[in-house]
Amino acid sequence: MDITITNDIRYIGVDDHDIDLFEGIYDVPNGMAYNSYVILDDKIAVMDTVEARFGAEWLGKLDAALAGRAPDYLVVQHVEPDHSANITAFMDKYPAATVVASAQAFRLIANFYGTDYADRRLVVADGAKLELGRHVLNFVTAPMVHWPEVIMTYDSADKVLFSADAFGKFGAQDYDDPEGWACEARRYYFGIVGKFGAQVQALLKKVSGFELGTICSLHGPILTGDLSEYLNLYNIWSSYGVETEGVVIAYTTVYGHTREAAEYLAEKLRGMGKRAVVTDLARDDQYEAVEDAFRHSKLVLCTTTYNAGVFPVMREFIEHLTDRGYQKRTVAFVENGSWAPMAAKGMRAMLEGCKELTFAETSVKITGALNAASFAQLDNLAAELA
Ligand code: FEO
Repeated sequence: MDITITNDIRYIGVDDHDIDLFEGIYDVPNGMAYNSYVILDDKIAVMDTVEARFGAEWLGKLDAALAGRAPDYLVVQHVEPDHSANITAFMDKYPAATVVASAQAFRLIANFYGTDYADRRLVVADGAKLELGRHVLNFVTAPMVHWPEVIMTYDSADKVLFSADAFGKFGAQDYDDPEGWACEARRYYFGIVGKFGAQVQALLKKVSGFELGTICSLHGPILTGDLSEYLNLYNIWSSYGVETEGVVIAYTTVYGHTREAAEYLAEKLRGMGKRAVVTDLARDDQYEAVEDAFRHSKLVLCTTTYNAGVFPVMREFIEHLTDRGYQKRTVAFVENGSWAPMAAKGMRAMLEGCKELTFAETSVKITGALNAASFAQLDNLAAELA
């Protein structure tokens, strides 16, 4: 795709529509973009490479943008192979080029590509600058956003922040997402970076001193215009704040009775004017459920007792939440168990280490099918959550 960033900054990224799972785990039905950029000045800097399968396409785009010149620098902001896989091809093609990266990045480059480019490298630390001519690259370290070696780069001439994985989203560049940026950016953020809220907060503080006109992430669209929506959402997400008031009802079901409870509760809440989102953890995308749990203020976990504990898919979901630092929310339980319901106790134990959770007083117990007693408990829970 031909995308203009500024006069001197060209987009040379690629779209991947063949990928099945991003990072081996995330569904990306609308493909994935691996973004890369070139800054043309007295000196020329290329910002990151692309995924392994797109080396020839990327080098062709770079060649066209260079118009006969040779690049001076390859800035490697992030060594995860979706961005670094073509370092060797680039360095072989341009023998006068220097790799610019953090010290930690060079250790990872050696791990993946067998050399740390000891005689062709420039190690940059937080606050380092690199003058290309009119453009000055200002480097900021961003450890754990999303790996420890990450740097981001602010071009003070054109007011562009090259933000590595931050502000990225699922979806190819040529897919015009009718849901806008936030939906798939949120699923990306909580899936991939959610655990590292403190580090994202530190990064937001660092970049707050820059006058930002454009954000060039390594995935998803180039962000321009009013950037406050993106910055504001990143601030909410990384501080584990509530973005949307509402109740997420996440369930598993074996014979349909726990689903019936989940849907009954959702209807009750909607009848009270409350937002309720229902998800079947075995059949819907678990990472949609994860982003919904972090987005909303309240969560109801409804599941079956299984081997005297928690149903496996629900266990997996709760681990997704606890792994990512789930906190500051209200949680309620609906358990089903035909002869000895035990799931609520197990779910609560799994969440015990989370910070600032409030557990609802009403805990719903179902013994097989719903009956008058369980409907009454669901009514009580709806009233409590509303
Ligand atoms: Fe897009 Fe963390 O790599």
